[in-house]
Amino acid sequence: MMASLQFKNPFRPGAGHMPPYLAGREAEERQFRRLLEQDTILENLVLTGLRGVGKTVLLEKFKPIAIQENWLWVGTDLSETISVSENNLAIRLITDLSVVTSSFMIKIGEKQGMGFAGSSEKLVQPINYSFLVKIYEETPGLVSDKIKAVLEFTWSIVRDTDRRGIIFAYDEAQNLSDHAQKDQFPLSVMLDVFQSIQRKNIPFMLALVGLPTLFPKLVEARTYAERMFRVLTLDRLSDSDRKEAIERPVRDANCPITFKPKSVEVISDISGGYPYFIQFICREVYDIWIQRMNEGSETSIPEDEIIRKLDTDFFAGRWARATDRQRELLSVIANLENCDGEFTVQEIADLSGNFLNKGFSNSHISQMLSKLTESGLIYKNRHGKYSFAVPLMSGFVRRQGA
Ligand SMILES: Nc1ncnc2c1ncn2[C@@H]1O[C@H](COP(=O)(O)OP(=O)(O)OP(=O)(O)O)[C@@H](O)[C@H]1O
Ligand SMILES: [Mg+2]
Repeated sequence: MMASLQFKNPFRPGAGHMPPYLAGREAEERQFRRLLEQDTILENLVLTGLRGVGKTVLLEKFKPIAIQENWLWVGTDLSETISVSENNLAIRLITDLSVVTSSFMIKIGEKQGMGFAGSSEKLVQPINYSFLVKIYEETPGLVSDKIKAVLEFTWSIVRDTDRRGIIFAYDEAQNLSDHAQKDQFPLSVMLDVFQSIQRKNIPFMLALVGLPTLFPKLVEARTYAERMFRVLTLDRLSDSDRKEAIERPVRDANCPITFKPKSVEVISDISGGYPYFIQFICREVYDIWIQRMNEGSETSIPEDEIIRKLDTDFFAGRWARATDRQRELLSVIANLENCDGEFTVQEIADLSGNFLNKGFSNSHISQMLSKLTESGLIYKNRHGKYSFAVPLMSGFVRRQGA
């Protein structure tokens, strides 16, 4: 076997997979560390950005930092939570909390010993799930009162340890919703509960991670959410960070191939600086090169093949779910000059007039955009402008031909 085959491909394209080298994000880390210094929690964290920009792995990186700084860390991924009731939210919080609290003991009485010295034995009970649920169930009032009671009790125990507080970290938090028709407001309840306990100086901090729809959703549920969160928006990587993301993994693993500056530039360009695409492209290039090395042929970046692979592996599935008319609309959008930034209904309407035989009316465009938002291809920001929710989607749409 050739020596080169012994090297595992170091790149990791895949949701939530820690990259071999996490490039950039220093500014975000500094901001997070500042949040950790709060004694009274005035600001909670929202970590947001497009699909594949690196939110989940950055949250993973924040976790040991917080623990190092003496915080407890609880939480989970909310992607399964399509529709939660207030009670489900409570169970969620208690379940997550109990993972760390169950190692704490509480004294529940004393048993007089039978021994001749009359020694007594302390009766202790771990603060586990059922213990917390009992507090929840025995507290009268609304769901929010009950959750608060559990959290206040937990703090009465944690405050006697060396821990500063607890971070409640929830990924895919854009899935949290209020449901007015069902009279269930889990999102609002969560915000109310945390705001209220933070006012009582209990250092429990929320770290919510999600797509760009997340923060507008929080503010829509409770206007004070605007002031309650520090929003960190992850963007594409800078040129120098891209370079690191591409070069470091092969260097650190002593791989038999290296990316020459020209190749780095090409990969960096195709990726648009989006971390997922960097991992994806580098993984492909690496595999192709290793094979060619064994065949003894020269190495260059097979740009067309890689773009085609990206189209089938990443974009095609999303495109397949769009209707013909939606595809037409997406094609119009992809031909707007500002399609990679923000665009308006009017801009789409104007272009659709020249672009298609049968243009779109403004109201029709609005309707379709909201459908496309539901299916996760488009999102609307707080100022009523629209963007593609999937990075580099515009180029793919243009490649499909109008
Ligand atoms: N700073 C970085 N440097 C290099 N690679 C990164 C970086 N951040 C993320 N990645 C890679 O990008 C991919 C996507 O990361 P991640 O799953 O964290 O994104 P995400 O924003 O959570 O996406 P989604 O919205 O789909 O949940 C992974 O393969 C990860 O290894
Ligand atoms: Mg994620």
